[in-house]
Amino acid sequence: MTAMTAPTTDPPPSAPSSPQDEPLRSPLGGLDYLKVSAEARAESRNREIHLPPVSTYRWWARRTSAVNGAVIDAFNAMMPGRLLVADMFAGGGVIPLAAVARGHQVYAQDLNPWPAAGLTAMLGLPAPDKLREAASTIEQWIHTEVEAAYGTTLTDGTRGVVSHTIRVATGECTGCGRRARMFPHALVSLRVRKESGNPQAWMACRRGHLFPAMSDKRRRCPTCHVLVEPAATYTPMRTITCECGKTDRLADRARTWQWEIVLVDRSSRTTREVDIPTDAEREKAESGGWQPVHDLGPIPPGQETSVLTRHGFRRWQDLYPDRQRHMLERMLDLASRCSKDPSVVRAAELAVVGSAEMAGYLSRWDRFYLKSFESMAGHRFNLTTLAVEPNVWGGVGRGRGTVLRRLNQLVKSAAWLQGKTGRELLVQGPLTTNAPATAINEWDVRVVEGSSEHMVLPSNSVHLVLTDPPYHDDVQYAELSGPLRAWARLANEKLTNEALTGEAVVNSATGQLTDDGAYEALLGRIFKEARRTLRPDGHLIFSYANRSPRAWAAVFGALQAAGLRAVGCEIVHSENETDHAKRGVRACTLDLMLDLVPTGHSAVEQHRPHPAPDIPLTDERRFLSVVADMFLQVGDLKDGWRLQVHKTLSEHPFIAAPADRTAKTTPKAAEKDRTSARRA
Ligand SMILES: C[S@@+](CC[C@H](N)C(=O)[O-])C[C@H]1O[C@@H](n2cnc3c(N)ncnc32)[C@H](O)[C@@H]1O
Ligand SMILES: [Zn+2]
Ligand SMILES: [Zn+2]
Repeated sequence: MTAMTAPTTDPPPSAPSSPQDEPLRSPLGGLDYLKVSAEARAESRNREIHLPPVSTYRWWARRTSAVNGAVIDAFNAMMPGRLLVADMFAGGGVIPLAAVARGHQVYAQDLNPWPAAGLTAMLGLPAPDKLREAASTIEQWIHTEVEAAYGTTLTDGTRGVVSHTIRVATGECTGCGRRARMFPHALVSLRVRKESGNPQAWMACRRGHLFPAMSDKRRRCPTCHVLVEPAATYTPMRTITCECGKTDRLADRARTWQWEIVLVDRSSRTTREVDIPTDAEREKAESGGWQPVHDLGPIPPGQETSVLTRHGFRRWQDLYPDRQRHMLERMLDLASRCSKDPSVVRAAELAVVGSAEMAGYLSRWDRFYLKSFESMAGHRFNLTTLAVEPNVWGGVGRGRGTVLRRLNQLVKSAAWLQGKTGRELLVQGPLTTNAPATAINEWDVRVVEGSSEHMVLPSNSVHLVLTDPPYHDDVQYAELSGPLRAWARLANEKLTNEALTGEAVVNSATGQLTDDGAYEALLGRIFKEARRTLRPDGHLIFSYANRSPRAWAAVFGALQAAGLRAVGCEIVHSENETDHAKRGVRACTLDLMLDLVPTGHSAVEQHRPHPAPDIPLTDERRFLSVVADMFLQVGDLKDGWRLQVHKTLSEHPFIAAPADRTAKTTPKAAEKDRTSARRA
């Protein structure tokens, strides 16, 4: 749907317009929004199949190549040839990947050193054979140490490894001083994955005695004879009640918090068993021989980190058992020497550091599917009283996120990338923001680390700025990446912007950008810089989703102040509905794609969201249509617009209605949300 508007300012001399000029159009008009949304949904359910390189490093709230690739294609149809595409909030790198896969040149920048390192390694992945060779080199070097750290014998006598070591937290009651195991549930773990239908399990009574039982039957504790209900939970709302009757918050026990090994998950080529550890296994896990040497630095105060500090974690290394730290340090050292080719070393180091997201005192155990969860899954740190230490290397096909599995995924990613590009890309970076903006024809990809208030690009060079700014306060990237940055620093002391000043994320705990207008002012400086880099015929396109009228007003104000003008917008399926559902916040299931050009062009034929009669007209869709109407005035916002935005948006039913009503999209999606929320 399109509408003509008059130009907002006089055209500058550099972009003359004449009566015979076609009106300016938005590439978003060329999107097949139904197809794109369906593809985005499929992709977000199975990212590592659709876009294998995203497994190279962890990032939060990744977009999809379905949406961004389609935008690039639509733009390319309007402006043929090889494009320079810039993403100044590049994060997980989906936009750069979509662009290089189509043969375009890419400028990628992020404030945070972890994604900057990740982008460089991912986009610069060497030929798969080189990675395969490096992986087998590391395997040969580490083999004996892995055996010493995790080698064991299964009950049937076969040799295997301990792939997970499960610990329960213990703490002293603040009433009577008695120390107790703080199992979160009566059902501690199944012994065989749930889909087998086998009910054999490990259960615990309220006092912490662990015993074999059936998951579908009540049973008396063999030690204290109390009747145990398999569905019972012992730490509701992070509290625990002692036999003496005193209820403590778990945080009240932070000072006396300790860990005790209760189960191991062993695997060999043929079998797997979740069992009580042998003395030898306990000894191996707790041996004084593990002497990690590196300090990972303090856990800074913050919105997400507060759950860690409240429960007694002070430094990043406190999240890791000594054996895990020791093995991580060893493997980092080997990775740094595994090849002469810097792109191989970079990728291998990333695989090792990435495995640190399975922190042995913070990863939860999935007691039904017998696997561990990332410590920062669902956009937060997951405190647990039943934590899983991984086998860092990973044994015989078991274990998520292990170094072995990550190295194998790198090989697949490299093969995928080479299949798309036909060669190794010339990747420059990570540069710092004060690097000179040298010639732009000497690289396929330039990666820059630092705030995009300054971009290492000449003026008038970019065809398409395609990006995805932080959504106000939705995801605390700097906090969540803390442990990964701490490990990455060991591999690369050059990681520079450790203070992360200039993060465009509002954080109520640290006070970052909480002052009136601060988020808007920072976004405004970045958009203005992006405008500087744009060619006169270039476009800035980005996605945004938020329930906060303040966030939308800030975005509009920032765009207008930067000298940009709206040409179109479109509503597309949002890629992270499941992420948000896991977090339990009121989800946004749709995104608005916004398209702008530098002010001063001639007549514009604006594109409005397609009417989409075949998609349910939910409150959220209605809300975004209202936002879209307001957005289309950017470049020509009249006095009083800000008040109007606040008033209209805050009164809208999507914002004003209670969570359970608004979270629902379609019955199917709602059911899916509930399922993933349950699993989380
Ligand atoms: C929504 S995420 C981008 C996600 C990315 N599109 C993807 O698919 O993975 C926003 C990113 O902006 C980065 N960021 C925040 N403030 C920034 C700044 N001032 N300059 C550059 N990047 C910044 C964050 O570190 C984060 O990675
Ligand atoms: Zn007590
Ligand atoms: Zn008991």
